Amino acid sequence: MPLRIFATCDIGPALNRLRDAGYELEVYPEPAAPPKAVILEKIRSGINGLICTLRDRLDEEVFAAAEATGKLKVVAQMAVGVDNIDRAAATRHGIPFTNTPDVLTEATAEYAFFILGMLARRMWSAEHLTRDLQWGYWHPSLPFLGDEVTGKTVAIIGTGRIGLAMARKCSGFDMNILCFSPKSQNQRFVAAIQQEMDLRLTNGIVSQPHWIRYASLEECLAQADFVSLHVPLLREGESATPTFHMFNHRTLRQMKPTAYLINTARGPVVDEDALAQALRERWIAGAGLDVYATEPLPADSPLRDPAIADRCRLLPHHGSQAQLTRLSPDPDLGMAGRCVQGLLNVLEGNYSGDVTQMPWVVNKEVGTHRDS
Ligand code: GLV
Repeated sequence: MPLRIFATCDIGPALNRLRDAGYELEVYPEPAAPPKAVILEKIRSGINGLICTLRDRLDEEVFAAAEATGKLKVVAQMAVGVDNIDRAAATRHGIPFTNTPDVLTEATAEYAFFILGMLARRMWSAEHLTRDLQWGYWHPSLPFLGDEVTGKTVAIIGTGRIGLAMARKCSGFDMNILCFSPKSQNQRFVAAIQQEMDLRLTNGIVSQPHWIRYASLEECLAQADFVSLHVPLLREGESATPTFHMFNHRTLRQMKPTAYLINTARGPVVDEDALAQALRERWIAGAGLDVYATEPLPADSPLRDPAIADRCRLLPHHGSQAQLTRLSPDPDLGMAGRCVQGLLNVLEGNYSGDVTQMPWVVNKEVGTHRDS
């Protein structure tokens, strides 16, 4: 009997690897996520592998159903963020789950950087001028000016893979960089970027010195012209350093009135009511968002307030939305390829069947859970 896989979404040609290898693959045919009832029904019908995306909520009920059948061996998520999966429940019920880190790092960091640039130079308003036939003349300062990025200070909040890639891209645009990490600091990376910055100065490639260093959150907020978020979503009880509503009335008020906030991490890291107020009352100059507390962004979101439209860019969770990054079947290039490889590692017993040795298994503790 071939092993059965259910994919909650068509993740493209990478799935052919499963078909070609003789797996019985069923793909949910709609572009929107399946209702949870469909996932439960598939699990209860005895699937052996589940391919999911960040749109699917996998909770205690789902993992308990999986344990009851004894058939489900692995959940493979096509995303790096896994806050939609109840890790403790997966582990408790003995199901390893995988994610797709690294392959989306550059795409997401460059998207964050482009949002930063779009905000600073007010490109959305500028395009509207042109399209709406409001571009009456060329003028030195009318109808508005933007802010240069070069020479400005960016605060990178969270120095994991994507945060460090964003820092690297900002250094290429001759920005100064403050780093904040709620967890460990990567001083080696910071020293290497500083060396590179110094080399550009001594070789006459730039005329001004630039710098990068770690700082406290308070200093980042007080000093930065741009604050870019790159922390995972961790709720109270999930971590000693939770990030839920890390950006709230108090922290938004600590930013400069000329500063911009960029969020390509997870929506709930920002209190959206507080942010809408901060934009309305101009505690900060603007925000560019790719992620939201509820996705898609609801019609009645305070972030849609037309009064703040000129300073609030709203994008549809597209950080990693690029050809190769999303769909390449190559596990070293694409999220889809890495997702399928993660699934196959478990199903085919690669790494001697030891999930603690498998790359991309998130809840590695599941490997020891059963014996403890
Ligand atoms: C995208 O947000 C991801 O987590 O992959």
